[in-house]
Amino acid sequence: MDVKKVLLGVTGGIAAYKSAEICRALQKKGIDVRVIMTENATRFISPLTFVALSGHDVHSDLFEDPKEPILHIDLARDSDLFLIAPCTANMLAKIANGIADDLMSSTALAMASPVIVAPAMNVHMYENAATQHNLCVCRQRGIHIVEPAQGRLACGDEGRGKLADVDDIVSYASSVLFSIDDASDETCKEEDDHDLCGMKILITAGPTVEPIDAVRSITNRSSGKMGYAIADCAKRRGADVVLVSGPVSIDAPAGVDLIKVETAEEMLSSCEDPFTQSDIAVFCAAVADLRPLKSFDRKLKKGIDDEALSTIDLVPNPDIIATLAAKKRDDQVVVGFAAETDDVIENAKQKLNAKHADMIVANKVGGGLAFGCDDDEVSFVTEDDVLSLPLMDKAQIADRLLDQVLKC
Ligand code: CTP
Repeated sequence: MDVKKVLLGVTGGIAAYKSAEICRALQKKGIDVRVIMTENATRFISPLTFVALSGHDVHSDLFEDPKEPILHIDLARDSDLFLIAPCTANMLAKIANGIADDLMSSTALAMASPVIVAPAMNVHMYENAATQHNLCVCRQRGIHIVEPAQGRLACGDEGRGKLADVDDIVSYASSVLFSIDDASDETCKEEDDHDLCGMKILITAGPTVEPIDAVRSITNRSSGKMGYAIADCAKRRGADVVLVSGPVSIDAPAGVDLIKVETAEEMLSSCEDPFTQSDIAVFCAAVADLRPLKSFDRKLKKGIDDEALSTIDLVPNPDIIATLAAKKRDDQVVVGFAAETDDVIENAKQKLNAKHADMIVANKVGGGLAFGCDDDEVSFVTEDDVLSLPLMDKAQIADRLLDQVLKC
């Protein structure tokens, strides 16, 4: 395999010193790293550091060498990936708007290979509507974002804006490089989005609703976004998708076979057939663990049905994934989710066994994460590995999840 070439862009923020660690960590993976810097970045860390680390010249001026007038084109052409870490709010704004007024922004515009940005800035700059809009535009244009972390910032403020963990940035970058290879190795597709052709996937999504009476129910706050993102991604990658969903307010992706259900018992019976036919089953639904022993067709009334209203006897619902995965074939891959507030990885490992799953996607709930959000921070937990991803949107998580399933 050819040595992969990463162009590392360093912009002018206090986190610029971490780019040296990123450079080393990429090299340890056998990747050839070249570095370019903005003028401001050279105030934070000397280009000499990167010359010594990378073994290559370090450029920051678009016109520094009159003999090389198209440096940005050459750099873009000669790189498999452009990773800008840290990326300031200013550079993000330039990239989002297609501005090319220095070496870094011109190279970003000239890249035909993937671009990853790892923003780092003050929390208020990060939360500013302009920056959020720029992030959104970049995402829509296929630029990968490694979201900043929460914490105490160099300026003394608390919040999101710290450069993501070096290991997370490096693992994200190498997995993007790796998926480029995967895509070119596939035989059943013309583009990288048909690698699931011929496969049948069952996905459960959304909440279940367990009726108490004609108007009341036990349910939860699952939006269905994660399951629907997986269905959409699997469909785009060529799979036949059956989506068994509780009530949600989003539309099913075009071309998937949608089965709408309300209760856990309906969800289980709707999954039975598609499960036996599936190659992959992803159980993403937030199933109510308990349901009322008795449910009333009419509305219970205060003053008349006080006893029934104040004491609702509950019985356990079937565990859908555990019931079905107990009889899975050896060639089937079963994925479950674990939404936890504490001991996330430990609980996910227990669920791996309890649910007979091949992989558990563990996520922390609370603090604004998971339910209803467009972004999430998850770990893929298998028998002998834990792969933690940085915060990313659910469509990206869906893609990475399916990549991981293919590796199973
Ligand atoms: N699940 C299921 N049927 C249930 C409960 C959960 O299929 N009756 C599946 C979910 O879709 C998910 C996994 O099991 O893939 C874990 O769900 P979770 O709610 O985190 O776990 P529980 O088994 O309900 O355990 P606990 O609530 O104690 O964490």
